Amino acid sequence: MATIVPRVFSGMQPTGNLHLGNYLGAMINWIHMQDTHECIYCVVDMHAITVWQDPKELRRAILDVTAAYLACGLDPRKSIIFNQSQVAEHAELAWILGCVARIGWLNRMTQFKEKAGKDKEAASVGLYTYPVLMAADIVGYRATHVPVGEDQKQHLELARDIANKFNLDYADAIKAAGFADGVFLVPPEPYITGPATRVMSLRDGTKKMSKSDPSDLSRLNLTDDADTIARKVRKAKTDTEPLPTAAEGLKGRPEADNLTGIYAALAGESVDKVLAQYGGGQFSVFKNALADLAVAKLGPVGEETKRLQADPAYVERVLREGSERARAIAAPIMRQAREIVGFIVS
Ligand code: TYM
Repeated sequence: MATIVPRVFSGMQPTGNLHLGNYLGAMINWIHMQDTHECIYCVVDMHAITVWQDPKELRRAILDVTAAYLACGLDPRKSIIFNQSQVAEHAELAWILGCVARIGWLNRMTQFKEKAGKDKEAASVGLYTYPVLMAADIVGYRATHVPVGEDQKQHLELARDIANKFNLDYADAIKAAGFADGVFLVPPEPYITGPATRVMSLRDGTKKMSKSDPSDLSRLNLTDDADTIARKVRKAKTDTEPLPTAAEGLKGRPEADNLTGIYAALAGESVDKVLAQYGGGQFSVFKNALADLAVAKLGPVGEETKRLQADPAYVERVLREGSERARAIAAPIMRQAREIVGFIVS
């Protein structure tokens, strides 16, 4: 009889540099959870190729993102760190879950609509079924908690729906396999928390900070040096009013709201505390303080990332060892999944 153990799973795509949105929306929680939970952190290279990637660049990006994971403070002695494609169970389970998920469910995914753009017929099938692979990533480890930014909420709701439908569709076989409570696939809980679950562009407070924005000034990359970080913060768009003294005053002021949220998340303080200190004052004073804080927090991450990029053998070893540990968890679950759906497992 398998009991449900608390287990964290999350991942990031190796497509370009990690940025402040990835850091504040997800990574900060990943780091904290290492001390309280069993954690599995994945570099989702199979998701990356839903849009064509140059193979040489992809290989480099996988190592770079892993280096950034480590530089941010993920510790391979505490967490399992690996790349998705080394554990074939992800792809295998995704096939089964693709037979459980309904086309209507996928048609509602807003990220597919955004990423595919106007010509949906020309998007890859992989981009369309992307959330099914994401569901397999999570439920394939019977993970209970998934720390992510706000933009992944809909994908996680879909993962829950798929897990629940699988448990219903195969209820008798699941009971027969010894799951008395009927829960073979565990519906994961989204863990979306903190003052910066949706970090916005530094150039436009109504747009999400993203690696695909053509303007590099729109984001702080985790590899930016101190001068670049300070310059981007000082150039960040603001409005003409001073900062408000309480959080309600941020309504309708997307840039002020975003910068205050970023400060609060980086400092580990509440937005109200930040406004108690800087509210009523000029933006320039606040921006200088934010630039100093961002340099202090992100500067060392960039330095450490560069150091690790110069040691690819070490980074590859982390991925290899992580993959072995991940496979050891995923393989027996996959074996049960095969039996439950009625395949012959010899
Ligand atoms: P990805 O690579 O787009 O982003 C990685 C993480 O960063 C968060 N994030 C943000 N948070 C706040 N503000 C932003 N501007 C911002 N931009 C990105 C994302 O929410 C995410 O947590 N589909 C996922 C990867 C994935 C995954 C998984 C995640 C694949 N399988 C299983 C969790 C569990 C993605 O594309 O993330």
